[in-house]
Amino acid sequence: MTLTHQDELDGLKAIGRIVANTMQAMAKAMQPGMTTRELDDIGRALLDQAGAISAPQATYDFPGATCISVNEDIAHGIPGPRILATGDLVNIDVSASKNGYYADTGATFRLGPVAPALDQLCRDGKRAMQIGIAEVSHNKPLANIGNAIGRFARSRGYTLIRNLASHGVGRALHEYPEEIATWPNHDKRRIHRGLVLTVEPFLSRGAHFANQARDGWTLYADPTAPVVQYEHTIVATDKGPIIVTLPG
Ligand code: CO
Ligand code: CO
Repeated sequence: MTLTHQDELDGLKAIGRIVANTMQAMAKAMQPGMTTRELDDIGRALLDQAGAISAPQATYDFPGATCISVNEDIAHGIPGPRILATGDLVNIDVSASKNGYYADTGATFRLGPVAPALDQLCRDGKRAMQIGIAEVSHNKPLANIGNAIGRFARSRGYTLIRNLASHGVGRALHEYPEEIATWPNHDKRRIHRGLVLTVEPFLSRGAHFANQARDGWTLYADPTAPVVQYEHTIVATDKGPIIVTLPG
């Protein structure tokens, strides 16, 4: 969507806070021995309490309230009987709507101590997202987002997943300008004031693509390698980005 009024920004910030708080509470509740279904139940209850509706469930009939993707799975993981263990990389992606406004956030969390290289990958994944967010401003080329992230990834020897794009959001989970590359690209479109979009690069130590599993949802890394994703919902302004998916 393109925001033109303060009440629209307020509506977006309200659902932004809800998805951010839900994701953080789920990450805090994560424990070895818990199933991803149990973790999703916590997320569903929090969304319910806040009067929010799971966006993937309502939009795509996704079989869960949130997407939980562990280790080799990198996105759209279906909550289920999988048991979380110490050392897992757990991606929690929460998108939901309230009063017709949609927000989307995600992050990869470490369950207990993980290998130092994975700690670094998580730090750099966040950094890659921040570098992309810094390119969100009125009249800047949309391509700057992926080109800036691409320069960072290359300088540190990382790869980027090239078939999982960022997207417009706000009045629906996925909307104009549809696919936004978080890798080097030649998109000719420009960002305009009030545009609402996600920035969600998938940074990896070797993987280039996401492939779909037989369950029809789960996406896994190809070739097999650790992948992290960090995602915020952003509004473009004349003065730069406003992040709406902040806890509070
Ligand atoms: Co998301
Ligand atoms: Co998204």
